[in-house]
Amino acid sequence: MKEKPIGIFDSGVGGLTVLKEISKLLPNESIIYLGDTARVPYGIRSSETVVKYSIECANFLHKKGIKILVVACNTSSSVSLDILKEKLPIPVIGVIIPGVKAALKTTKKGKIGVIGTEATVRSQSYTKRIKEINPAIEVISKPCPLFVPLVEEGILEGKIAELVIDRYLKEIKESGIDTLILGCTHYPLLKKSIQQYMDGIKLVDSAEEVAIEVKEMLKELNLLNEDGGKSFKTFYVTDDPERFKKIGEIFLNYGIEKIFKVSLEEDK
Ligand code: DGL
Repeated sequence: MKEKPIGIFDSGVGGLTVLKEISKLLPNESIIYLGDTARVPYGIRSSETVVKYSIECANFLHKKGIKILVVACNTSSSVSLDILKEKLPIPVIGVIIPGVKAALKTTKKGKIGVIGTEATVRSQSYTKRIKEINPAIEVISKPCPLFVPLVEEGILEGKIAELVIDRYLKEIKESGIDTLILGCTHYPLLKKSIQQYMDGIKLVDSAEEVAIEVKEMLKELNLLNEDGGKSFKTFYVTDDPERFKKIGEIFLNYGIEKIFKVSLEEDK
């Protein structure tokens, strides 16, 4: 059981930020990553559609014999985590709670900003969780839909990135928050530019927090793989592997070897 892989899924390539942090913290673990590249973006779709897609992704990975499922996509985590937990007989970790916990530890003023896709912000997943833990905290959230294509085009800094950041984050910057949750898989790649703009404001990267949560969970369940000798990383995508490989290698900073195209429809 300990040697079984960790399953991670995302709507596309963005969840590699989560994979990167998990493999940094848990280098002995094998990982199977699924990117639903044929149906990305999830962030502009209805909750019903995102739930349907998320169940298909989770079932695919479960059939591959994973020991734990990480829902790297903030949009999926926002609308389908409870359903996936109910449906799967293995532990399921999403990205919302780890991000919330980190933000609550960070804020001194009790004023937190949250940025994410339209679906994530509409679901109020972060706001609800924060308020459940501490109702006195003020939360200001804002969808930043252009950040995802910017990252996918590799525009991480410079004039265009700065203009888009200013357009989306001006109001939130002036609102007096001291902590900003990067509530989307892609946003950690814009961290440097966002940090420059949000001078003095602490950025919370859910990817790092999720890795810590995965480690704690595996330890608690006695499922940590102590022997990394046979560990592997396999990638599955639902559309052309070439584009994923190209962008993915920028995300990861290393070559993606084992990558296969699959159909989730056939898998049902
Ligand atoms: N993975 C999505 C998220 O973290 C961003 C991309 C998309 O919209 O599918 O919300």
